[in-house]
Amino acid sequence: KETDRGAYPYYMLKEIDEQPAVLHRIQKAYLENTDKPAISTELLTAMKHADRLYIVGAGTSYHAGLVGKQLFEKLTQIPTEVVVASEFAYADPMLSQRPFFIFLTQSGETADSRQVLVRVNNEWHAPSLTITNVENSTLYREATYQLLLNAGPEIAVASTKAYTAQIAVEAVVAKALGEVKEIEFAQKFDVRRELSLAANGIQSIVDEKDKLKKIAHQDLAKTRNAFYIGRGVDYFVALEAALKLKEISYIQAEGFASGELKHGTIALIEDHTPVIALITQAKTAGHTRSNIQEVKSRGAQVLTIVSEALAKKEDRIVIPTISELLMPLMSVVPAQLLAYYASLERGYDVDQPRNLAKSVTVE
Ligand code: G6P
Repeated sequence: KETDRGAYPYYMLKEIDEQPAVLHRIQKAYLENTDKPAISTELLTAMKHADRLYIVGAGTSYHAGLVGKQLFEKLTQIPTEVVVASEFAYADPMLSQRPFFIFLTQSGETADSRQVLVRVNNEWHAPSLTITNVENSTLYREATYQLLLNAGPEIAVASTKAYTAQIAVEAVVAKALGEVKEIEFAQKFDVRRELSLAANGIQSIVDEKDKLKKIAHQDLAKTRNAFYIGRGVDYFVALEAALKLKEISYIQAEGFASGELKHGTIALIEDHTPVIALITQAKTAGHTRSNIQEVKSRGAQVLTIVSEALAKKEDRIVIPTISELLMPLMSVVPAQLLAYYASLERGYDVDQPRNLAKSVTVE
């Protein structure tokens, strides 16, 4: 059965390992035999009409939304805002003339996100799309349009494969919409090929998980805190990477925009404080490298997760290079594994972290 743990000690590790297969499933569901995604004309017409996209999510789904903003803006040229569900539900937003709402939710049951959908339906009367892993869930039923993640059941409380699936489906939808809008960048963006490359890349990372186990043992087993840093989408992945570490290893971890470090947070750096830098974007790689020097000179224990194309010989974790827009699909995977092994090292129940629930149905 899909929900069997098999030989895996924890569901989380199984779900991390499943990510290449999930990407293949998404290809099969939306891109079989064509590079034009199979997304309904009704949905694309409604989205094309929008003057602004609002992506709504909580927790990891919110982080997948942050990555989605870039995809939608680059591929469709529609301005896109990403909002935290619990905040937006009670805000007085200055909505655009023709908003379109995209709900990202693994479970389809998150009360904070649902509260926004209630306003979308009853107050703002705007069209919506729910992208979820659970068919017939509440947010699936109550949205105008729906798409499935095809990630298979996610059981570990800490979300992994749903995050990568959300990014992949966002890319598929953005590509389809960009094609309809005849955006040149979208026409050239071979989403099918990129997802194949990402699947292969993730496979090579999970095949070398022992390396990450060792790093977790050396750098994270005893530490009180840790920082992830990056710029642009690397920053967005830093937020998700830090959340993973917090959720299951209880290390006080934070994700920061590398350039912001010097404006305050750098005060926290002590001897041996782990700082994990994500470098996958050519435009900002040099600046993040300078920020690494700043923390190193304050004693930080630096670890870099870098795409091959930007790698230097001192980099400890080098991952394959694909389109920069989709690098989060791969750069998050070492971070998921570091969190997993840090949790094991510290002797916690990886799948059932304290105080957390898989799906939160209260506001
Ligand atoms: C809970 C889970 C998180 C998840 C969030 C949103 O807090 O512990 O892992 O990211 O809910 O869940 P959703 O099902 O809406 O994606």
